[in-house]
Amino acid sequence: MSKNKSWGGRFAAGPAEAVAEYTQSVSFDRALALHDIAGSRAHARMLGAQGILSLAEAELLVKGLDRVQEEIEQGRFIWKQELEDVHMNIESRLTELTGNVGKKLHTGRSRNDQVGLSFRLFVSERMQEWRNLARALARVFVVRASEHAGDILPGYTHMQPAQPVSLGQHLLAYAWMLRRDAMRMEDCQRRVRVSPLGAGALAGTVYPLDPHAVARELGFAELFGNSMDAVSDRDFVLEALFCASCGMMHLSRFCEEIIIWANPAFGFVRLPDGYATGSSMMPQKKNPDVAELMRGKVGRVYGSLLNMLTVMKGLPLTYNRDLQEDKEAFLDADATYAASLGIMADMLRELRFDAPRMRAACAGGFLNATELADYLVGKGIAFREAHYLTGEAVALAEQRGLGLEDLPLEELRNICGAIDADVFAALDYEAAVRRRESAGGTGPSSLRAQIACLREWLKSDIDVQ
Ligand code: ARG
Repeated sequence: MSKNKSWGGRFAAGPAEAVAEYTQSVSFDRALALHDIAGSRAHARMLGAQGILSLAEAELLVKGLDRVQEEIEQGRFIWKQELEDVHMNIESRLTELTGNVGKKLHTGRSRNDQVGLSFRLFVSERMQEWRNLARALARVFVVRASEHAGDILPGYTHMQPAQPVSLGQHLLAYAWMLRRDAMRMEDCQRRVRVSPLGAGALAGTVYPLDPHAVARELGFAELFGNSMDAVSDRDFVLEALFCASCGMMHLSRFCEEIIIWANPAFGFVRLPDGYATGSSMMPQKKNPDVAELMRGKVGRVYGSLLNMLTVMKGLPLTYNRDLQEDKEAFLDADATYAASLGIMADMLRELRFDAPRMRAACAGGFLNATELADYLVGKGIAFREAHYLTGEAVALAEQRGLGLEDLPLEELRNICGAIDADVFAALDYEAAVRRRESAGGTGPSSLRAQIACLREWLKSDIDVQ
């Protein structure tokens, strides 16, 4: 192998073929090319403005970088593995294009602060996209929730029938999760968009750089506070990966519900044909593969987070090559999470909920038992006593294979004399849902308030950058 032009001065020979392959990152970090160029452009301009390079030299560098960008965008750029990474590929081409001045671009800069900046720009852009996709998905949840505000289904705790709820309430729960996801990402941006340029390799620099100018040009509000921290900090990657992990976990929970609801024993939802597959052997099957795969892919994203936490835990200050592992971990999580958000929005738009099946499921499972207890409390009976009496009524109904609402009034009165004919109105499932108007509850005006609040949030588009 030939010697590396960027750092090979003190080396007698280049790396072995297998080592070059092992250590290279250009096969994947070329995804950061445009971000790297943006950082270099800002650096070049600053070098000119500070008189470290002449203005003419800075101008040449910026023009040269523009040309490199063009070549990359048009797919004409020739990536070379022997140049290791995206940074050296770009610098090498720039030098071919601009001659000697290209060799001055790296003045006052190290790849250590350079890669930090490029990756921060990249992560920030991707996270902004995630945030937009999360908002778009939340919007679909709100729309579907509004359509189904009046439909009821069993709400579960411990996966056991608990109380009837509005399907709107159930779907809105996910909109609230997505709102937290989007807000978490907005908050995370504050720590991603911090410029490390000017930290040099680890100790700062002797050149009179203006790191503020670079940060300003790139739209970063903040600057690193310590050069050693700046070149070795990957908290921003970890935080972004946590955002993706938490977001995937939310998607996965809904996937799990779709899978359960699509089971014929539930029959609450019909899968759109485009989001289900058949079995090669069993003709009756319609499998929720998309939801299953999305649930399965969560592991990759968690894996990336755990991967990076593990990479970081043993690193002494400052830059260590281990850090290069951050790209593939992030890129894989990014591809998985972004695609999942988009596909979930499309699938949710097309899900057909079977409202009659959901309604019918409310009738088996004593979902109105709490109503009877509350009814008895209304008649002046202490809740603990009311709870016990209701339990007796449930046991009786169960024995008879009936719902509480199907028991004759006399039998109910045998259990508790305070029960009157008005009990049946109290046991009505729709009424049980309507009655829960407490803040955030499943009642109709609570739903309207939630939807209004979520719509307000979806309207505001604060530009976090
Ligand atoms: N490809 C490297 C990375 O992703 C760039 C920085 C290399 N710096 C160094 N001193 N070897 O981390």
